[in-house]
Amino acid sequence: MFRVSGRRLAAVTRSVASRRTLASSATRGVVGMEALATGSTSALRNLAVRAPLVSKRGLKQISFGGTTEPVYERADWPIEKLREYFKNDTLALIGYGSQGHGQGLNLRDNGLNVIVGVRKDGASWKAAIEDGWVPGKNLFEVEDAAKRGTIVMNLLSDAAQSETWPKLQPLLTEGKTLYFSHGFSPVFKDLTHVAPPTNIDVILVAPKGSGRTVRSLFKEGRGINSSYAVWNDATGNAHEKAQALAVAIGSGYVYPTTFEKEVLSDLYGERGCLMGAIHGMFLAQYEVLRENGHSPSEAFNETVEEATQSLYPLIGQRGMDYMYDACSTTARRGALDWYPIFKDALKPVFQDLYASTKNGSETKRALEYNSQPDYRQKLESELDTIRNLEIWKVGKEVRKLRPENN
Ligand SMILES: NC(=O)c1ccc[n+]([C@@H]2O[C@H](COP(=O)([O-])OP(=O)(O)OC[C@H]3O[C@@H](n4cnc5c(N)ncnc54)[C@H](OP(=O)(O)O)[C@@H]3O)[C@@H](O)[C@H]2O)c1
Repeated sequence: MFRVSGRRLAAVTRSVASRRTLASSATRGVVGMEALATGSTSALRNLAVRAPLVSKRGLKQISFGGTTEPVYERADWPIEKLREYFKNDTLALIGYGSQGHGQGLNLRDNGLNVIVGVRKDGASWKAAIEDGWVPGKNLFEVEDAAKRGTIVMNLLSDAAQSETWPKLQPLLTEGKTLYFSHGFSPVFKDLTHVAPPTNIDVILVAPKGSGRTVRSLFKEGRGINSSYAVWNDATGNAHEKAQALAVAIGSGYVYPTTFEKEVLSDLYGERGCLMGAIHGMFLAQYEVLRENGHSPSEAFNETVEEATQSLYPLIGQRGMDYMYDACSTTARRGALDWYPIFKDALKPVFQDLYASTKNGSETKRALEYNSQPDYRQKLESELDTIRNLEIWKVGKEVRKLRPENN
């Protein structure tokens, strides 16, 4: 009864956004005023370089719970403007995993000059051919593509970025741009040895979702939300270029961040509420129910099924207070009493996790594990362990009995 479709939700979000008082300012105008007010040579130079776009740029200032933050949006970059902006560029997409697939096809559909670079005859090479990339035309081996590209988009796995860096680095000559979708490699350069040249623009666009979602939202005419950051601004245009690329790969709203903040929040979040913590919480609750004589189906329904099918979508659509309000007075009272106890028990674990992320331990572990030649087999064996846990075997059966599957 409370479920709202994604499309409807997007419409609601848009209408709420449009009702907000948004202090919209033309970035070019701000740059121009800064240049005239300060007489700064660099500001004047930027003004001269960027002048043609003056009337079209916009930047929203949105209050997020009382903190005002800038947000860029794709309306600032209509397709003709994107094509004009990148008309002299070759976008060399290195790697064709989840992000390479999503970002690459979106760039191609947007009519930009994009080529793919992957190792020959690997899984990605075959996947790229299936997606219509043609060897020798717009599909090349990694180094060949990097040589041809003016914007080199490093979408290899984070471990492979470290491994391939000695070959890639000499190809990143002056005038090129280096792009990442994660701050991992440059931020932890002491571990990854990926130290980008200081004389080129180095930028990041990190979609807040998998590459498959980057693609599916683009095909639906919507855009994924992304963050963007600048590591080196050698040309003075790196911010604008990153914002344009964010839209070109299929982003809707684009949140500014730094490489450091992006990588720390991302590594922390996926180990926490997004994946690790939620799995740990499900297992703990399920095990206690089973130890107290509840049947597998009852334990699963009360732990995972009701959460994912009924209550968590309400949090996503309308917030935690709305979900509480949609539940019984008995449920509400209990949850109000117990959430601070869970928070207090869990906060030290999250503090340890953040520290482990910040001091590089998580990066070190990811690099060591994912650089092993048999990492795919080892991963598969760990996923198999999860697959064979009673809780997830029960889930498979419970899913078959969902109303939509009858
Ligand atoms: N996936 C996400 O949800 C997501 C979201 C936001 C940002 N990101 C970031 O986007 C970047 C790409 O991630 P991804 O998930 O799309 O890719 P991925 O699955 O981690 O990496 C796949 C690519 O790396 C290549 N590769 C692996 N080892 C290699 C080696 N030794 N030499 C050459 N190529 C190698 C693979 O080629 P083969 O097929 O030949 O092995 C494949 O093309 C990462 O920085 C990631 O952190 C990912």
